[in-house]
Amino acid sequence: MNCNNNGYAILTAEEAALLIKDGQTIAFSGFSPAGAAKAVPSALAKRARELHQEGKPFKIRVLTGASSGIAVDQELAEANAVSWRAPYQGSPAARQLINQQEVEYMDMHLSAFPQFVDAGFFGKIDVAVIEATEITPDGRVYLTTSIGASPTFLKCAKKVIIEINEYHSKRLREMADIAIMPPPPRRNPIPIFEPMTRIGWPYAAVDPHKIIGVVFSNKPDEVKEFADSSLVSQHIADHVVEFLVKELHLKSHSQRLNPFQTGVGNIGNAVIEAMGGNPAIPPFYMYTEVFQDAMVDLMAQKKILGASSCALTVSSKKLEEIIANIDFFAPLIVLRPQEFSNHPGIIRRLGVITMNTALEVDIYGNANSSHVYGTDIVNGIGGSGEFTRNAYLSILMTPSSAKKDKISSIVPMCPHIDNNEHSVQVIVTEQGLADLRGLGPMQRAKLLIENCAHPRFKPYLRQYIKDSKKGHIRHNLAKCFELHQNLMRTGDMLPE
Ligand code: COA
Repeated sequence: MNCNNNGYAILTAEEAALLIKDGQTIAFSGFSPAGAAKAVPSALAKRARELHQEGKPFKIRVLTGASSGIAVDQELAEANAVSWRAPYQGSPAARQLINQQEVEYMDMHLSAFPQFVDAGFFGKIDVAVIEATEITPDGRVYLTTSIGASPTFLKCAKKVIIEINEYHSKRLREMADIAIMPPPPRRNPIPIFEPMTRIGWPYAAVDPHKIIGVVFSNKPDEVKEFADSSLVSQHIADHVVEFLVKELHLKSHSQRLNPFQTGVGNIGNAVIEAMGGNPAIPPFYMYTEVFQDAMVDLMAQKKILGASSCALTVSSKKLEEIIANIDFFAPLIVLRPQEFSNHPGIIRRLGVITMNTALEVDIYGNANSSHVYGTDIVNGIGGSGEFTRNAYLSILMTPSSAKKDKISSIVPMCPHIDNNEHSVQVIVTEQGLADLRGLGPMQRAKLLIENCAHPRFKPYLRQYIKDSKKGHIRHNLAKCFELHQNLMRTGDMLPE
């Protein structure tokens, strides 16, 4: 063991992994693959395999900001080293273990998560492993490409390991705006009145006595580049942009556009690209959770005027572009802890226009974004709940069908609901758009079926309404999950 000039013990990742014990609760930095701890969880996965081969138990409880990188989301899961996980995940390996009930998973709103941690709702954090570009002797931790819940992990963990990732530029700190909320009931209003308002510091704070080691690494974040948008994503994006242009024309917004949020993934990226390419959409701000590739180009073109986010979830190519032009980008990007980037009150105050993706929506506008058949998790609710619920205008997007048109994304009733009819205002598929604002349930159902459903499923959905019991909403409880039951039985919602 060495000492660096700041007085902290320098450890190898393997030495650091030895400090983590079976059954402990470990918090890893990262919000998406951006800023995720990499070297220590990778070494921990290796150690878990070795211990399992010797017949010894080794499983930890894992906290992250949201989804994470390969080391946490994939390697630890594949090593069967996780017993419990919160608040979000996004990997096939973790998904499989969760759905086999090998891992308990707490899927929750991301803005509420740091408060849960601080309040001790998950018990004590034994060790936090946090990626940084620098740690000072007085405990200032300069984070890398995401802020997530790391400031809270540093505050609450009993012990801390810092991963100094030398791949990342120290100038990333110019985008960080870090504050910690005091626990309720003594909270003042958060003074974020514009998307770009800064209220904090460029570093997170830790008691230096808690640091048990510093590990050096040199690895990029594992953010994939986006494939070219599919035709379906492009059609969805075109409908969204056409709708936004009409909205602007109606002058239902003040002259300056309200800020936008988009969910992760290809559809969100396609929408941002389409907004950028349309001259009828004036330059705009983002108040979002994840800053993605398409936003870099639009910022360079001055179409995006500024962005508040929790993570720079950009490919290495785009991150290099940002760092090479950091004097331009740093004043235009604010990276905040997730309790601020996703804060319901700020989203409502700024009047954010939100655009998220669902797996399926029912004919009344209730949306399932997380559980196939109501049982099998895909990723989780993520930030979609807090953004949709508090939006000025909430848009949910989904392809009208999945698995070669065997699955309809418009169904009589969703077997799991993340965002309900009271929060969802506009639904878009590649078939068209349903603006549900001001409509009663039967008007909603008609519009959704006629504008958004895939043609293969329209007759079934129309008939479902006809045959259902009349009330404020029509449903037939004996048949409302018939499509899902068909799918589970035959692999097709409408078997021939
Ligand atoms: N029923 C069953 N399976 C379905 C389905 C449905 N209605 N709709 C899609 N699927 C399947 C797809 O075929 C695909 O399967 P595959 O992995 O075997 O190919 C899988 O589910 C994922 O669908 P895909 O269209 O590739 O999803 P995506 O990458 O666009 O992500 C969500 C869609 C909803 C899973 C994703 O947006 C998400 O996790 N959202 C919730 C969190 C969130 O919104 N975060 C952002 C907020 S800031």
